[in-house]
Amino acid sequence: MEPDEFPEIDTRTASIARLYDYMLGGTDNYEVDRRAAEAAEDLMPGSFALARNNRRYLERVVRYLAGECGIRQFIDHGSGLPTQNNVHQVARESGAGSKVVYVEIDPVVLAHGRVKALMAEDDSTAFIEADASDVDLVLGHPETRRLINFDEPVAVLYVSFLHCIPDARDPDGMVRRMVDHLSPGSYLAISHLTADTPESRERMTRFGVESTRGHWGRVRSREEVASFFQGLEVVPPGLVKATEWHPDGREEEQSEEFFEYGGVARKP
Ligand SMILES: C[S@@+](CC[C@H](N)C(=O)[O-])C[C@H]1O[C@@H](n2cnc3c(N)ncnc32)[C@H](O)[C@@H]1O
Repeated sequence: MEPDEFPEIDTRTASIARLYDYMLGGTDNYEVDRRAAEAAEDLMPGSFALARNNRRYLERVVRYLAGECGIRQFIDHGSGLPTQNNVHQVARESGAGSKVVYVEIDPVVLAHGRVKALMAEDDSTAFIEADASDVDLVLGHPETRRLINFDEPVAVLYVSFLHCIPDARDPDGMVRRMVDHLSPGSYLAISHLTADTPESRERMTRFGVESTRGHWGRVRSREEVASFFQGLEVVPPGLVKATEWHPDGREEEQSEEFFEYGGVARKP
């Protein structure tokens, strides 16, 4: 993208949505994002593979939820820029009529022409510009109310997202308030950046905070990620490396030190 294409967008600071887009091979990013992505790869080798593996995890999760669990309503928090195999497309391959609400804070995602094209062609999909930690805003948004029937099961996705939420913004409370609103038979799906030692987690957290200037939270331990599922039934194989969750052979080799945990749970 050209720096002056969207005047409302800060092109001097890397954004996690654009950096991630670059890691996935997209073109909706700026020089500052590309530099930050390459710096991430230098500091934490395997970061690009990790991003691609996460995206494939998201596809497998949505396929499982729509195909095996019969879910037809999705709220995808921190959806990122449209890419291939977006949630609504994967969901509809397995379940006709699926409705999807995307929640995203990054203005480039919402300003993007493809988002507008996608919305114009499809009234069962909506993009909401919101901070996902404002659960009341998400739940009360006219598009959520139009598309989601909370008397029926809903899948709530926080995929490669909760590490963007600092503890001060209470990610546990955010997930809890959302899950409390769901009917029995609903699902919560998560992937979350982690590293195997406190020092590596600290390194990864510092990198995110410094390179995205505040649009970042914290890389958490396995116990901390597992606690998001409190009170829910985690489906097999449990909370595992995202590459090990229902693998389909497209997983790429990635770092043993830095990876994402992935898991899906059902509300009883
Ligand atoms: C690493 S991307 C993950 C994209 C997608 N979920 C996936 O797994 O492919 C994280 C996304 O969360 C968005 N994000 C960060 N903080 C947010 C917030 N408080 N509310 C909504 N979106 C947020 C970022 O803009 C970014 O697009």
